[in-house]
Amino acid sequence: MFQFMRARGLGFALYMRGYLCKEDKGMQYNFDQVISRKNTNSSKWDNVKARVGNENAIPMWVADTDFVAPQPIRKMLEERIQHGIFGYPYRTDEFRAATKRWILKQHQVELQEEWMVFTTGVVPIIYTIIQAFTSPGDEVIIQQPVYHPFIHAIRDHGRRLSNNALRYACGQYTIDFDDLAARCAKPEAKLMIFSNPHNPVGRCWKKEEVDRVAKICVENNVLLISDEIHSDLMLFGHKHTPAAIGNPCWENNTILCYAPTKTFNIAGLRGSCAVIPNSSIRERFSHQLLCNSSVQECLFSLPAYVIAYTQCDDYLEQLLPYLEGNITFLNSFLRSYMPRIRLVQPEATFLTWLDCSALGFEKASLYDFFVNRALVGISKGESFGAEGEQFVRLNIGCPRATLQKALHQLRNAYMQCL
Ligand SMILES: Cc1ncc(COP(=O)(O)O)c(C=O)c1O
Repeated sequence: MFQFMRARGLGFALYMRGYLCKEDKGMQYNFDQVISRKNTNSSKWDNVKARVGNENAIPMWVADTDFVAPQPIRKMLEERIQHGIFGYPYRTDEFRAATKRWILKQHQVELQEEWMVFTTGVVPIIYTIIQAFTSPGDEVIIQQPVYHPFIHAIRDHGRRLSNNALRYACGQYTIDFDDLAARCAKPEAKLMIFSNPHNPVGRCWKKEEVDRVAKICVENNVLLISDEIHSDLMLFGHKHTPAAIGNPCWENNTILCYAPTKTFNIAGLRGSCAVIPNSSIRERFSHQLLCNSSVQECLFSLPAYVIAYTQCDDYLEQLLPYLEGNITFLNSFLRSYMPRIRLVQPEATFLTWLDCSALGFEKASLYDFFVNRALVGISKGESFGAEGEQFVRLNIGCPRATLQKALHQLRNAYMQCL
């Protein structure tokens, strides 16, 4: 009898678990839904002529997605809009616990709440750090081809760019550590900006690689910024490593940047976080933010940020397989119909990096081929550094139908030109 009850108890527990799991699943998102973004002040869709060069091109350039944001964020915004009063916001401390929860869940590392500074974007964090911790003429190390605002941030401030170019061989990117160590050893080298995971090449750096970067920077007294804005978007089983966390010596020399804006498609709401374990670096950074008058966010930034990191887990769980599906589709389409365009297999992000060297075009003809013949609005590879000249970046953060349309257009152009 006891056995029987135990068995029934177990059955009931399993039944309840199934039931609860069903309930837990939350919203079902339909990433296949095509929604027009024209005339919505969208940089991607309304600025396509100026930024891509042809207003008829399907915009697949700037790094936001064409998916609606999670329902809890939209609900909050609807309620606030209904309220109708949009005065100065009051910044509560909620973003700290929300960030701590999210990073622990995503990457299994524990951040201290006092390390966190709320900011209005990761690019503003990088600009502020360059101002606070370097002087004109100092060298800032980056790894080209890389997210171009890193390049602009260095040049805009009259700092010198030191390029620890990534190595590209057999379709895979790696870090040239000997070159990195030599660059860090120079007395002029003050800062390194690390794209972790890497935009645009899509590498999820392995723990050994991230640790080695952190170690080389510490040994040479080069401050490390680890831009981890894409770190939620880990694909095909890859695992992200937050830089320096867990080693107090490395932590003291590192600033990590996080934001829910890519993951949940809320870049227009401007919310991000600088994680700075070292208190004097944190104070100096916060003082520079104040001097730049960049301390005031939009009324919606903070609530959207907190909801994203506390109530939207189901969105990401559904988004990742969808992105993987888009990448698999892209890869097999290219292999079947356009074998001279090769996908550099992404391990993270919704930004794909296409090796077009086998097409044999000059760079101007390459961009003309994509933008004017195929009407596919890519980001030019050279904007990420000269190393990107035979490449284009294609944003696949869109409904499958949009991707299919773009690829069919590309195939027609390919067949006509080649
Ligand atoms: C690596 C990287 N860092 C930062 C950003 C932009 O950050 P934010 O919009 O928070 O300034 C992007 C956007 O594409 C990015 O890819």
